[in-house]
Amino acid sequence: MWPECAGLVGALLLLQGIVPLVQDFFHLCNRALGDQVLEIRNESRCSPAALSMAQLNGGDHQKWRLDSKSRLVSKLGLEGPEGFCEALCLDVAGARDERGSAVIAYRQNEKDNQQWQLEAVATSSTIPGRCRVVKVISQMAGGRALTIESGDQMCRDAALEVHYLARWSDEAGLVRLQRVVWNGGTPKGIIMERLGKQLGKGTGADNKACVLQDIRNGDMSYTAAGAASSLMPVAHVLRRLHRDGYAFNDLHDGNILCCLDNNSYKVIDLGSVTLTGHWVSQLGTDYDGRWSTNRDWRVFGVAFLGLVCGGRQLNLWDLVGTNACTKMHTGAQCPWSAPVPAGDPCVLPADVSSLLVDSGMAWTHTERLNIVSALVAMFAPCINDDDICKKLGVLAGGADH
Ligand SMILES: *[C@@H]1O[C@H](CO)[C@@H](O)[C@H](O)[C@H]1NC(C)=O
Ligand SMILES: *[C@@H]1O[C@H](CO)[C@@H](O)[C@H](O)[C@H]1NC(C)=O
Repeated sequence: MWPECAGLVGALLLLQGIVPLVQDFFHLCNRALGDQVLEIRNESRCSPAALSMAQLNGGDHQKWRLDSKSRLVSKLGLEGPEGFCEALCLDVAGARDERGSAVIAYRQNEKDNQQWQLEAVATSSTIPGRCRVVKVISQMAGGRALTIESGDQMCRDAALEVHYLARWSDEAGLVRLQRVVWNGGTPKGIIMERLGKQLGKGTGADNKACVLQDIRNGDMSYTAAGAASSLMPVAHVLRRLHRDGYAFNDLHDGNILCCLDNNSYKVIDLGSVTLTGHWVSQLGTDYDGRWSTNRDWRVFGVAFLGLVCGGRQLNLWDLVGTNACTKMHTGAQCPWSAPVPAGDPCVLPADVSSLLVDSGMAWTHTERLNIVSALVAMFAPCINDDDICKKLGVLAGGADH
């Protein structure tokens, strides 16, 4: 389910400005959104109610107070039975202490999913009026901060993901869309085919169950040919996206999953797919289409290497980096992928080269040459998708189609 409006996420980036009003009530605004304030959408008196950001209009549905039980309570009364009046308060929907959980307005309870702490933030900028800048921190164990995400944007994102999954559904290396639950023209939930383990730890903890861990534990192993043919469908997905002018953007070994019925891999989560040139407008010309396709293949190269080198988990984030969308399980932001100048010769990163030398794998001379040749193509400053697929095809022992 996608929240209507406000989301609770791990990042503590968005700060709320608080304007004190008479009798402890204040407005909650967000510095990134100018003078808009948090309100109960459409002055709803029903519980649960959606929240939204709107222009200040003096209504009670825009005024909030921190009560003695640490709840952020609306001034807008809720008409209960016998005229009993109870106000709604900010509530983490379903008490889900997870990154990205929705926040709604709900009937008061005594639980920690309605308890918040205002943490003052030192600021050098001058803010008009009697404002304080604070983070609004949930009292649930995760200690996450309230931030604003547009429910409309989230619906658009979901619709886009459905669109991409359908558009590229003929690719064997892309997770199958099984069903979309619609709600008044917007997707409310997307149901995908079930897949097996993820290839590497991805954004998860070091001991995250994954194929690389199984290989390290001796529960499975890959020949170079086996790894190349298992990952071939994923390579075809990347080639297809790039051909159509798109990049995956946050590919990592945690969203490449093994199929249940065969030894083949598929990618999941097209939530970060953009046109290849998307980042230029945000980050400058170094982050052009070459940067994004380059990044997609470097990640693929690291995943491939993990399979062929005894399940070794390289540090993808140090080696490749990512974009602004990817966060670790701890909530920490993954580092940006550095652009590689187009004129640079293709040099494999030191970690990759040393792993090839030290892995102790019993490759034939030809196998070793073919592995290196495929990796060099994947780490090249200027990507040639067809060439990479061809080299993988050679390794897999057959021609690529
Ligand atoms: C709120 O009101 C607007 C127009 O007044 C309407 O279009 C919208 O559907 C309402 N939203 C909800 C959640 O009721
Ligand atoms: C592997 O199995 C999945 C179903 O789990 C199927 O969609 C996919 O096409 C199969 N891949 C190959 C290469 O046979």
